[in-house]
Amino acid sequence: MRRVNTSGLIPGMVTAEDVYNYNNHLILPRGLILTDKAITKLEFYSIINVRIEDKVVETPETRIEEDTSYSERLKQSPEFQRFQEDFSRETDHFKGVIDNFVGDNGELDADQLIEHALSLLSSENKYVNVFDMLHSMRQLDDVTYVHCMNVGLICNIFAHWLRMDEEEIRIATLSGLLHDIGKIKVPEKILKKPGKLTAWELSVVKTHPKESYKMLENYPLSIHIKNAALMHHERCDGSGYPLGLTSGSIDPYAKIVAIADVYDAMTSARVYRGPLCPFKVIETFENEGFQKYDSKYILTFLENIVDTYLLHDVRLTNGEVGKIVYINPHKLSKPTIKVGEKYINLSQEPHLFIDAIL
Ligand SMILES: [Fe+2]
Ligand SMILES: [Fe+2]
Repeated sequence: MRRVNTSGLIPGMVTAEDVYNYNNHLILPRGLILTDKAITKLEFYSIINVRIEDKVVETPETRIEEDTSYSERLKQSPEFQRFQEDFSRETDHFKGVIDNFVGDNGELDADQLIEHALSLLSSENKYVNVFDMLHSMRQLDDVTYVHCMNVGLICNIFAHWLRMDEEEIRIATLSGLLHDIGKIKVPEKILKKPGKLTAWELSVVKTHPKESYKMLENYPLSIHIKNAALMHHERCDGSGYPLGLTSGSIDPYAKIVAIADVYDAMTSARVYRGPLCPFKVIETFENEGFQKYDSKYILTFLENIVDTYLLHDVRLTNGEVGKIVYINPHKLSKPTIKVGEKYINLSQEPHLFIDAIL
């Protein structure tokens, strides 16, 4: 038996304990053979690690999925190669600014931070491709900087979707970029530890929202940015940490960051597969209930994500290939698909799902 970080789990591993959320609700039972879906669920609940059995059960998902044609094609494109170069340059810059801030110098140039990060969104390939590219960008040896860049960029796009004004968009972007900087205070050997985290180490990881807040507290930044750092692991139903706040007490920018944060964690490429199909992420949100995230934000977010895939080709779980022709507003993960001459309304097919974007 050993403890494995959620990011290191692979399908076929078997849970050695019941897994509960912060609210003490059972999420996964002991003895469960993990699937991609179960691991995504753990990300959804921000479970940091799980005790698992030593044996790994052979499952169809244990082998590397070949489902990645869309992301593979994307990765081969010159556009992606350019994005990747720009992204690593800007992440280095971001790291420099943050390290400087944490160090003796103590200066934080927010305008410069934003300007650099947003240069990545300035190209004509706005939004859908940028999202897909970000999913492929998380590197295994980075737990803070790349993730903060991702979340900052997602927040920026999200704020546009929410039709915020210019100043609000700026606050949302900075909230995302800075939300996890407290992780710099968490020893790297804990953050990157592949195996067992002790209860003490876990409690150290969970100090990062307060650490982020403390680092930003005395800077002339909007209070929303500081609150977003402190409250981005809070959940509307009171199941989050560090304070267990409920919806009315959580800063709106923290709610926005929370959604961008969990979406980045759920869609990111894993050791054993490419980025997760967004429809599977949306399905998890729909199945696990919307109580954790503010409905006015989460619906706007998911609707816009789904919209970007209209007219894309997809493969269904029964192997059929078709085109998304209609988004069902009441069941976002289950649009209508045109396969040949027939139309399949997935919302009326309980056992049929989108398996991959092609
Ligand atoms: Fe965090
Ligand atoms: Fe985060």
